[in-house]
Amino acid sequence: MSDILFSSSWQSPSNIALIKYWGKYGVQMPSNASVSFTLSECRTETTLEVLPAGQGPKVELYLDGEKKDSFTPKIEKLLSKLQSEMDWIEGHRFRVKTHNTFPHSSGIASSASGMAAIALCLCDLHEQIDGNRFSDFYRRASRYARLGSGSACRSVYGGMAVWGKHEDFPHSSQEYAIRLTEGINSVFQDFQDTILLVHSASKEVSSTVGHDLMDHHPFAKKRFKVAGQNMTKMKAILSSGDVEAFIQVVESEALMLHGLMMSSLPYFILMKPNTLQIIQKIWDYRKQNGTPVLFTLDAGANVHLLYPSEYKEEVKKWIDAELSMYCENKMYICDHVGKGPSRLNP
Ligand code: PMV
Repeated sequence: MSDILFSSSWQSPSNIALIKYWGKYGVQMPSNASVSFTLSECRTETTLEVLPAGQGPKVELYLDGEKKDSFTPKIEKLLSKLQSEMDWIEGHRFRVKTHNTFPHSSGIASSASGMAAIALCLCDLHEQIDGNRFSDFYRRASRYARLGSGSACRSVYGGMAVWGKHEDFPHSSQEYAIRLTEGINSVFQDFQDTILLVHSASKEVSSTVGHDLMDHHPFAKKRFKVAGQNMTKMKAILSSGDVEAFIQVVESEALMLHGLMMSSLPYFILMKPNTLQIIQKIWDYRKQNGTPVLFTLDAGANVHLLYPSEYKEEVKKWIDAELSMYCENKMYICDHVGKGPSRLNP
């Protein structure tokens, strides 16, 4: 006999920040606003089952059918934070069955897509148990995802999302991300992101530690100010479709993020020699051919190669000929701006 009382399944994509969130305070509040593209192919598919209370751990988690105890503390922590809003959490146990569409050994963090999928399942389960619909389903899911992992809050929408209060983005909030629907030039609506997989081992320094190092960072105040100014610039760029200006802001944000890591105490470097080789190749190719290819980086060594969709074929040939050799086992993932999460049939 099945022990499942309620169940919900969602898939949620990952996202890549253009203006970076790096530094936080209080309960996962961002020190500056950020904006991201939601991806499409890099997704987490999760089923969350509610079980009766009784013997056994509060949360059991299976990744591709294999029990993973190392992932449960983060979910237990999220559940305990949400207990005051969802009183049914207390009297139950949970089984999480999850799968990432990207290779496990790719070095791509699954926390954004993973926490967004869990948050969506929790909102869905609350509706099932409580019998009432949330009028603010996605906003709520975004807030819950933020409590699990900051950048996850931007993954609950398709297209582009802004997280963090900023005067140029009406309705933006520290507590949840909002979807950007208006003022986006068509060139950015199906932008491509090919993720060049430089280094698959897990990171030497986690984002959590990196965020905390911003508390006493000598450049923190200036960084948060510049991030705000870059948000203003980005708003104008998104509406005008000025790809040249986009390149400058996005690449500068990526290098500033890694510059902050290099100037923290203790300092650290997450880029690898091949990260720099690829960046140099991108700059050379752009100069020689005039093709608007650019890079961004998250908190790791992999390079996100961004470009408008009309250059897809040309860029693919160039990657195979000149960039894949800098990737681990020549691996890369072709992704693009996506439509956001969706409910799955369990
Ligand atoms: O959500 P976290 O705590 O993993 O932080 C993510 C930080 C960056 O990926 C470097 C930037 C961002 O805005 O996603």
